[in-house]
Amino acid sequence: MTDRERDTPELDVDFARAHFPALADGWAFFENAGGSYVPRSVIERVTAYMTETQVQPGASYAPSAAAAERMVEGRQVIAQMINADADEMTVGPSTTANVYMLSHAIRPWFQPGDEVVVTDLDHEANNGAWRRLAEIGAVVKEWRVDPATAELDPAALEPLLGPRTRLVCAAHCSNITGAINDVAAIAQMVHAAGGLLFVDGVAFAPHRAIDVRALDVDFYAFSPYKVYGPHLGALFGKREHLIAAEGQNHYFFRADDVPDKIAPGYPNHELTAGLAGIADYFDQIHAHHFAAGANTFHERAADVFRLFAAHEERLAVRFADFLASDSRFRLIGRATGSAVARAPTFSFTVQGMKSAALPPRLEAAKVAIRNGDFYAIRLMGALGLDPSDGVVRASMVHYNSAEDVDRLIDGLEKALG
Ligand SMILES: Cc1ncc(COP(=O)(O)O)c(C=O)c1O
Repeated sequence: MTDRERDTPELDVDFARAHFPALADGWAFFENAGGSYVPRSVIERVTAYMTETQVQPGASYAPSAAAAERMVEGRQVIAQMINADADEMTVGPSTTANVYMLSHAIRPWFQPGDEVVVTDLDHEANNGAWRRLAEIGAVVKEWRVDPATAELDPAALEPLLGPRTRLVCAAHCSNITGAINDVAAIAQMVHAAGGLLFVDGVAFAPHRAIDVRALDVDFYAFSPYKVYGPHLGALFGKREHLIAAEGQNHYFFRADDVPDKIAPGYPNHELTAGLAGIADYFDQIHAHHFAAGANTFHERAADVFRLFAAHEERLAVRFADFLASDSRFRLIGRATGSAVARAPTFSFTVQGMKSAALPPRLEAAKVAIRNGDFYAIRLMGALGLDPSDGVVRASMVHYNSAEDVDRLIDGLEKALG
C-alpha cells in the first residue's frame, strides 16, 4: 500500500451530492448503471460551449478557435482519466456505435477461419458487432458463463485460444452481476496466444480507476454518460492498432491521422466539450479531500476513485447482507460487497414474484430501480431466466448515501411484505 492509499480519507458524500442538481428531486436513485446524473460542472461546460462557441470549430477567428480547444480539452480529459494519449481516444455517440465502427475498421485483419472469442455474459454491445464477423468467414467462439456462479472462469477461456485467435472481447465488469474480471490476467492469456483484447469497461468505469497501459489492453470502451458526463461513448485503441485499422472516415484522412480517420464524422461538439466538466468535478472532490495535489489528472482521478470505492463498498456490504438475510431473494452472482470483487450493481429475482412487479411498488417512496434484461439477453438465457421479465437491478454509485440504501431496503421489505 502506498502512502497516498493509506492516507485516503472517507468520502464526504454530502459534498459530492451537492454537485448534482438532479439529486434535489428527492429520489433515491438506483438506476445508475443505466446512466448517471451529471454534476453542475458538466452542464456548465455544455452551456458555455453552446452559448459562446456554437460555430464550426477549427477556423482562425476567436470563437471557432475556442470551440476547437474546448473539444480537444474534453477528449484529453477522458484520455488522461484512463492513462491514454489523446490521439488514441475516439469519441462517438455511444459504446454500441463505437464497437460497430471498430468491428468494421478491423474487418481486413480477419482471414476466413480466423477466430473471435465473445462471451454470453456481456451486454449485446460487446457481442453483436463481433459475432457479425462471421459474415466474412471468421469463426466465432463463445466463452460461456458458468450458470452455477454467473461468472466467467478464465480456465474456460484457455481452451478457446489458439493460433487462429485474432480477438477476444470481454467485459471488465458485468452490467448485471457487478462482478469485476481480472482484465490484466486475461490480457496476458490472450497476448500469449497471439490475439488482441477488446474490453468493454462501460460497467466498470463509473466505479474504479482505469489504467489502459497497466492493464495492457488493446482496445477499451466506456460510456461517459455513466461516468457523470454527457451522453457519449469513448473508445481507446493502442496507437499502432488505430493506424493499422481501416479508416471509417473520408478517403482523404491519412492512415496515421488518428483518431480522426477512425470515426465517420465528428462527435457531438457541445457534449465533447462537456467531457471536461468531469475533470472539473473530480478536481473539486480531490481538492476537498486531499491536502497535497497530484501532478496529473490521471493521478487525481485515481485518488478520487479510491474514495468512491471505499464508500461504495460500505453501501454494497450493507445491501449484500440485506439480500442474504431473506431467502426469497436470488442474487445473481457474487454474494459479497467487496470493492475488489464487485461494483455496487446488484441484480436479483424474487421468489414467487415477477421482476416487473417490484419496481412500481417502490415508487411511492421515491426509490428508482428497474427490471429487465439490460441488453444482456444471452446471460438471461444462460442463467435460465425469462428475458422478457429479466432481473431487478439496483445499481449504486458514489453519490448514493447510506440513507438511500436504507430507503431501498425499507421499500423492498414493504414490497415483499
Ligand atoms: C456493460 C455495458 N456495455 C455496453 C453498453 C452500451 O453502452 P452505450 O449505451 O453507450 O451504447 C452498456 C449500456 O448499458 C453496458 O452496460
